[in-house]
Amino acid sequence: MIDLGLRSPAAPTVGHTGHTETLGDHTTRQLLRLCEVAGLGPADAIEYARVLRRVLGPVADRPLHLPSPDGSFLSDDHTPVEFSLSFEAGSVPTLRVLVEPGCGAGDLARGGREGLRTVRELARRWGFGTERLDLLEDLFFPAAPQGPLALWCALELRPGGVPKVKVYLNPAASGPELAGATVREALRRLGHRQAFEALPASDRILFFALDLGDWDEPRVKVYTAHQDLSADGAAGLSRMVDGPGTAEVEAFFKAAAGEPESLAGPYGRRPFQACHAFTETASGRPGGFTLYVPVREHARHDGEALERALALLARYGIDREQLLDSVDAVTSRRLEEGLGLIAYLALAHQRGRPPRLMVYISSEAYRVRPPALLAA
Ligand code: TRP
Repeated sequence: MIDLGLRSPAAPTVGHTGHTETLGDHTTRQLLRLCEVAGLGPADAIEYARVLRRVLGPVADRPLHLPSPDGSFLSDDHTPVEFSLSFEAGSVPTLRVLVEPGCGAGDLARGGREGLRTVRELARRWGFGTERLDLLEDLFFPAAPQGPLALWCALELRPGGVPKVKVYLNPAASGPELAGATVREALRRLGHRQAFEALPASDRILFFALDLGDWDEPRVKVYTAHQDLSADGAAGLSRMVDGPGTAEVEAFFKAAAGEPESLAGPYGRRPFQACHAFTETASGRPGGFTLYVPVREHARHDGEALERALALLARYGIDREQLLDSVDAVTSRRLEEGLGLIAYLALAHQRGRPPRLMVYISSEAYRVRPPALLAA
């Protein structure tokens, strides 16, 4: 059960086994239920719950009545775990989980080292190489790193118990003024010499990501922030070869962000994000484009955010059941009582694949953000 507001330290949640519930208990319970919705068998689900605990590290055993360690930027309430579902017409959605492995290490430098150690441990266990990450270590892990993150790891939980792995790094690790140069150099080292020039103008570069492990076409991804975006502006962001048409992006933007409104709240608005994915180095052009709408900044409550997600699924001919079941799997609160359970809605295009819709679902281990007020 999740309450509005901060959990009271005087009244720790007691799990059904009678012991004080921990961050690991909370997030693995959600994961086990989500695995079932995503059609993964019990053996895979149990294995993935173990992996989640392992990647979380010692903070998995932290009682939930203590505040989130190190104030993770991964989610609004600082839970270092976020779930997402990737939907494609005609198939079961893919469940993914994003985790901050070094969370609780004390500071970003230690967190980064812990994150690298964890990724290398996963690599040994599942037999994949980390060469592309190793090549970039000095760029993203300086001695005195700046925030807001050092390393995040996402796992795509496919059947068989061996996930696909993605690593997210911070371009501003050596300072926000060096983010562009850092990304340009990282792309160059990976052979993408012309990629940086292909990126759209943006307010900031937020993340640099690498696919590691068993991918057909491992991608290098660059995430850019776009603060005051219109449907029109969103449609103009893609630099992908044979990317989405402007009408499709505009329609997605409007369906996800709603009317350019009138919501007031004490929160500064998070930006929209674009992600360009590079696979081949010959053309210098990205083979993938994703647009992320922080739907929680554009809706009054999660009921409204869910309606937007369902309308989009319908438009793409995708069944609504699995999203509804996924929401039930992570929370029992009324959706109208909070905002941010559904963090982002995204539309992804990748060369040679049908478009995908992604829904990002918060764990809300620590806090539920109250609904937004309508501006007077
Ligand atoms: N919480 C951060 C944000 O909102 C980072 C993040 C988590 C994020 N999941 C994401 C960013 C999905 C884009 C898409 O920016």
